Amino acid sequence: MNRSIIQESGKQTPYYAYDISVLKQTIDRARVEANKYDYHIHYALKANSTEPIVREMLHAGFGVDCVSGQEMELALAQGFKSTQIAFAGVGKTDWEIDNAINSGIFTLNVESIEELIVIEERAKSLGKHANVALRINPDVNARTHHYITTGLEENKFGISSWMFDRLFETLGKCNHIEFKGLHFHIGSQIRDLEPFRNLCTRINHLQGVFIDHGYFPSHINAGGGLGVDYDDPDSSSNPDFEAFFGLFDTYLDLHPSQTLHFELGRSLVANCGDLISKIVFVKEGQKTNFLILDAGMTELIRPALYQAFHKIENIEAVSGVNYPYDVVGPICESSDCFGKAVMLPESRRGELVAIRSAGAYGECMANGYNMRTLNPSMFY
Ligand SMILES: Cc1ncc(COP(=O)(O)O)c(C=O)c1O
Repeated sequence: MNRSIIQESGKQTPYYAYDISVLKQTIDRARVEANKYDYHIHYALKANSTEPIVREMLHAGFGVDCVSGQEMELALAQGFKSTQIAFAGVGKTDWEIDNAINSGIFTLNVESIEELIVIEERAKSLGKHANVALRINPDVNARTHHYITTGLEENKFGISSWMFDRLFETLGKCNHIEFKGLHFHIGSQIRDLEPFRNLCTRINHLQGVFIDHGYFPSHINAGGGLGVDYDDPDSSSNPDFEAFFGLFDTYLDLHPSQTLHFELGRSLVANCGDLISKIVFVKEGQKTNFLILDAGMTELIRPALYQAFHKIENIEAVSGVNYPYDVVGPICESSDCFGKAVMLPESRRGELVAIRSAGAYGECMANGYNMRTLNPSMFY
């Protein structure tokens, strides 16, 4: 984060500020590490779909991972080739499926047998074939917040192994499905890499089951999920792409003709973005004083939605002595709180506050509750 650029901009707060040099460095590190093994990265558009950021992903040569027809349209409009697009989601509608088939995307990542049947029907009626990867629920615990855990039996995502008999029976009747690969995504903000090691073990077993049934996956898609260090956004080793890709190289049994794909979101964009806000009031409280900001859960919902931690900095304070503050927004909800008893220098009305590492799942989740609108972002 470049404080002086932000201080001097005089921009209307709250707004998102993106440091494109940080983004480029992160992308570069990911690309170098993935290239060591010829792995393919699809940027998970859902993490942040602002145009300048998406453009950097395109220039890096990454593909994209989409979860809606709108994201797919955006990707195509931005210049991604249809063959670079993976499309996941448990509730794809007919128009989304038709668009995906007509565009000839890399894969529709199919999340249920019910969806597979509909895709077969749609492809047949369009007189085409649909490229399909089956999203398997590997029942691997990502050991992250339960709202961003996606690879457990109890989660709605993917096809579980107890359904395989019916799956193979259905696949056998599909004449308009091109089986391309297997897809997995166990969750997000995973910092301890052990769950990815467990995922590799599961993939090794599961792909054997498919091969035994005559379905050879020409690619494996291991999803995203690599976490970032929200405590220390400026750490240079953050996130550890080397360890991440190295782990898959060590533990995943990839067949010589297979390609390995990843859908990284947060790890690529979290650290390049900050939410910049102004202190509206410093309100006296009984235990701690409140810093009431002009940004709230409408601009950044992660703390309210899943108790996410973001480092908070007063970037204009003059005092060096720290005090505990409850940092809150202006929205009429008690969950509209960015942090409790946050140690900050003595803070005053009108000073700028940066909520750090907000580049992923920040701006894209902003909403209009209380009829609020988001100010244009800054890219520097
Ligand atoms: C299917 C799928 N792939 C990739 C991602 C990206 O995850 P992350 O941002 O943790 O890398 C998500 C996030 O929810 C997802 O649902």
